[in-house]
Amino acid sequence: MRAANQPFPSLAGPWRSVSGSPLIGEVLAPGDKSISHRALIFAGLADGESTIRGLLEGDDVLRTAAVLRALGVEVERDVSNGTANWRVHGGVWRTPDQALYFGNSGTGCRLMMGAIAGREIAARFDGDASLRARPMGRILDPLIMMGANAASEENKLPAHFSGGALNGIEYTLPVASAQIKSAVLLASLGATGTTSIIEPTPSRDHTERMLAAFGAPLSIEENPNGGRKIISQGGQNLTPANIDVPGDPSSAAFPVIAALITPGAHIVVRNVLMNPLRSGVFTTLKEMGADLSIENERMANGEPIADICARHSPLKGVAVPASRAPSMIDEYPILAVAAAFASGDTYMPGIEELRVKETDRIDATTALLQAAGVETDAGPDWLRVVGCSGNVRGGAPDAAPVKTRHDHRIAMSALVLGLAADNPMTIDDASMIATSFPNFFTQMASLGAQLTPVS
Ligand code: S3P
Repeated sequence: MRAANQPFPSLAGPWRSVSGSPLIGEVLAPGDKSISHRALIFAGLADGESTIRGLLEGDDVLRTAAVLRALGVEVERDVSNGTANWRVHGGVWRTPDQALYFGNSGTGCRLMMGAIAGREIAARFDGDASLRARPMGRILDPLIMMGANAASEENKLPAHFSGGALNGIEYTLPVASAQIKSAVLLASLGATGTTSIIEPTPSRDHTERMLAAFGAPLSIEENPNGGRKIISQGGQNLTPANIDVPGDPSSAAFPVIAALITPGAHIVVRNVLMNPLRSGVFTTLKEMGADLSIENERMANGEPIADICARHSPLKGVAVPASRAPSMIDEYPILAVAAAFASGDTYMPGIEELRVKETDRIDATTALLQAAGVETDAGPDWLRVVGCSGNVRGGAPDAAPVKTRHDHRIAMSALVLGLAADNPMTIDDASMIATSFPNFFTQMASLGAQLTPVS
C-alpha cells in the first residue's frame, strides 16, 4: 500500500485500475471546489485581508487565484504545521495586462464574469477547448440586462467585458444553475437598487451562505412550492472573513462508491460537506441499499459537515427523482457506475444539464459503461443503466482505453469501475483529474486501490 503523501508518477497519459483489494482505511475529503472558488473571489472583493484554510488546490481553483492576481489582488499561500493557509488582500481591481484564462473551469469563469461586470475594467475572458464550447449566454444575458458592456461571438468564449453602470433587476433563472445565480448576485453588489432572483428549483446556496460571512447578507423568501426568491441590496462592500473550506461531497462520492461496490471494503471519508443542496447522491445511494452512516455531524462557517462511513453493499436499482438533480448534478457519472453494480435498472431523468458540462456527460457516461460491458439507454435528458448484480465485466481484452474527453469526473468514474470489475479499466488520460481532486491517486492508493500508469 502506498503512503498517502507519496508522490505519484505523472498523471498525463493512460492509467489503469485493477480489482482485487478490499479498500480499507480513512481519508480526508479534498476541499470543496464550489466553496473554494467563492472564498477566493469574495476575499478578492473584500477590503482588507481574508484567510482561507482547506482551499482545494486543484487546477480550476488555482486558475481563479491566478486571475485575481492578474487583477491586482494579493494572493499568498503559507504553510504552518503542515496546513496551507491562503491569505487574500482584496479591494480595488485593475485592468489586467493579458486575457483572463480560466482553463477548464466553468465556475471560476462564470462567477468572475459577475464579479467584474460593471467595474471600470476591460477584460477578455478565455479558457481551454472544453470551456470555449460551453454556453455563456446564460451568464451574459442577465449581466447585459443589468447594464454590463459585455460581448462574445455566439455566446461562447472568448468574451469581453468593459464596464457599464449596473442596475438591479428581477430575474427568473432559466435553469437551476448556481453559477448563473452567483454571477447575478455578485454583479448585484455593485448595482444601483435591488436585485431579485427567482429560483423555481433551488440550486447550491454557497454564495448566499458565504456572502453573509463577508458582511453582505441577502434576504431569502421560501416559496411553498419549493422555489425561492433571493433579494440583494445593491451598493454593498464586502468585509474580510476567515473561511474554513469543508470537504467536497462531489469528490467524496468517488471513494464512497468505490467502497460500496468492492467486496470487503470499509472506509471513512472525513469532513464532507452535507449541505442538503449537495448531498442528493448520498440520499440516492441509501435508497439503493448502501450501508452508509453519517457520523460526527457538525457546522463550520454556516455549512453542515460530517464523516461518511461506507461498507461494501449489495445495491438495487432505483428511479432517481428528477427534482433531486440539482443537488447531485456532478455525481451522475459515478452514480451510474454504482448503478452498473446494482441489481435491476436505475433510471435517471431530468439531467439535460449534463449535456453542457465539461463534456456531454450523458454520452460520455454511456460510452464508458458500454466499454465495460454494461447495457445502457439514454435520451435527451435521461439515462438508464441495466445493473449487473455485482458482476461487471470491465474492459474487453485488447479494447482501446476509455476516452475521458478531458473530463475529470468521467476519468475517475471509469477508474473506480475497474476497481471492482472482472477486467481492468484503462483510460486514455488522467491529467484532468487534477482539476478537482489533485490527490485522488494518493488517497485511493492509501485505501489499497490498485491504480497504475500504462506505459
Ligand atoms: C457549480 C454549479 C454547478 C456544478 C458545478 C459547480 C457552482 O453548475 O455543476 O460543478 O460552484 O456553482 P451549474 O450552475 O451550471 O449547474
